[in-house]
Amino acid sequence: MSRSPVVPVLAIDGPSGSGKGTVSRLVADHLGWRLLDSGALYRAVGYAAGMAGLDLSDAEAVTRCAETTKIQFRAAADGGDTRVIVNGHDATDELRTETAGAAASAIASVPSVRQALVALQLGFRKAPGLVADGRDMGTVIFPDAPFKVFLTASAAERAKRRYKQLKEKGLSVTLAGLQREIEARDSRDASRAVAPLKPAVDAVLVDSTGMGIGDVVAKVLAVVKL
Ligand code: C5P
Repeated sequence: MSRSPVVPVLAIDGPSGSGKGTVSRLVADHLGWRLLDSGALYRAVGYAAGMAGLDLSDAEAVTRCAETTKIQFRAAADGGDTRVIVNGHDATDELRTETAGAAASAIASVPSVRQALVALQLGFRKAPGLVADGRDMGTVIFPDAPFKVFLTASAAERAKRRYKQLKEKGLSVTLAGLQREIEARDSRDASRAVAPLKPAVDAVLVDSTGMGIGDVVAKVLAVVKL
């Protein structure tokens, strides 16, 4: 019996605002591979927990929420950003806010919440390949990924990028406040006991500080040797 060939994965991990989202999408488009935005899953669960009025520090309740929340990704009709549907409601805009990011980070530190999302993430690995964007793609979810990148940028630059992004979406934020929130979220993500934010030992480190998006994409694509 012949075994089916292993589907290649490019894991792109890194802190918030490092450009992972944009880079992952462009790289996936270039390769013609599927894309997993794992942060959106944690954001969706945090959002659903908030909608249900749950206490985010109640591990049992948020785990049940992670196990039962229905999350769907749908291509936008106008070719814009992929829509994220949470329990039947298009929550794409709500999920972008820093409040949603903070809720995601809070529930993401609960091991059983992470466990509840594993099978869903593994299901994205389909031919011809997958670009997986997150914090633990190369370390925990796809440790056997043949291609791994850890994308960083200075905290100041990440705050500036996020500021521009959120302003363009018409959200009201301040640069200083954003930098504080980003640093607090990173330190929680990096210091948690389970699946902390850290580069896989075999990841290629890419520091995008001062680099244009095209150059970052080229650097990441250079990691993928098919
Ligand atoms: O990438 P994004 O900013 O959308 O992620 C939101 C939060 O979800 C992160 O701050 C992190 O706490 C959590 N997350 C995670 N593991 C992932 C992706 C996201 O813990 N693979």
